[in-house]
Amino acid sequence: KDGKYIVYHGLLCPKETHSLDSLKYFEEFNVRDDDVIAITYPKSGTIWMQEILPLILNGGDLTPVHTIPNWDRVPWLEETRAALVLDNKPSPRAMVSHMPYHLMPPTFFSSKAKVIYVARNPKDVLVSSFYFHQMARFLDDPGTFEEFLDKFLAGQVLFGKWTDHVKSWRKNDLGDRILYVTYEEMVKDLRGALARFSKFLGRELTEQSLEQIVSHCTFNTMKTNDMSNFSLIPQDIMDNKKSAFLRKGIVGDWKNHLSPEQEVKFNTVIKQEMADSNIKFAWDE
Ligand code: PPS
Repeated sequence: KDGKYIVYHGLLCPKETHSLDSLKYFEEFNVRDDDVIAITYPKSGTIWMQEILPLILNGGDLTPVHTIPNWDRVPWLEETRAALVLDNKPSPRAMVSHMPYHLMPPTFFSSKAKVIYVARNPKDVLVSSFYFHQMARFLDDPGTFEEFLDKFLAGQVLFGKWTDHVKSWRKNDLGDRILYVTYEEMVKDLRGALARFSKFLGRELTEQSLEQIVSHCTFNTMKTNDMSNFSLIPQDIMDNKKSAFLRKGIVGDWKNHLSPEQEVKFNTVIKQEMADSNIKFAWDE
């Protein structure tokens, strides 16, 4: 794969952010009972959770989101920064991961760590990922939209097939350790989503701190936060001018990108692959 990716259990992970050492660190990671992990398929709301979680866990104190870049504030468990920052982070720690359920480290399963799984309409994931591949120089050029759509459906993209990821995290033994939310619900009612998260995490918030967190975590505020908008990354690695990481932040941009034929092709494959599950999403109705 022209040297840009490590293939980990069949999943493509960019070498820019992953190494054999970081994946080993992930496998041996020591999960604490009070860890909170947001799980996402790429382009489903990861950096949004990197903004939200520390604020909920610390009652709305803006210091970390104003002073620590998101990749160190709430690291990806499988990426190289994790080993540098996580061991020394005081509890409760917040992390993110794109890994499927079955690849999580053994201590995750024996711990009481909580998980918030964020899912997003795969058509909007596809569109977001297409632009991300244009701006992130450490990824393959996406080619035409049609070519990228075919790769996406074949799972020849970061972290494999969307359908496999979603299904893996639905069939689990986590009981009330996991909360499901969609990107769409968060866009529609961020305040409601944050209230659900804080209850789930046992961190009831005052009205005032809830308000403060909501206003800090809107798309427009995050877009101007240099600790969250990737403007600290050199342009030859991520070209924010080509397409911003915080690109549009809306629901349904796929309607501006998929032709009727592409929509049918996409729906057919996803429907077929989801047929062996009882997962229903609002966007399917
Ligand atoms: S990654 O590369 O997997 O970490 O990307 P990820 O953060 O999961 O997804 C990026 C998309 O999430 C959007 N985003 C937001 N939308 C609404 N509100 C807020 N606050 C927000 N923060 C991030 C971001 O804009 C990407 O979606 P698109 O559709 O490309 O705009």
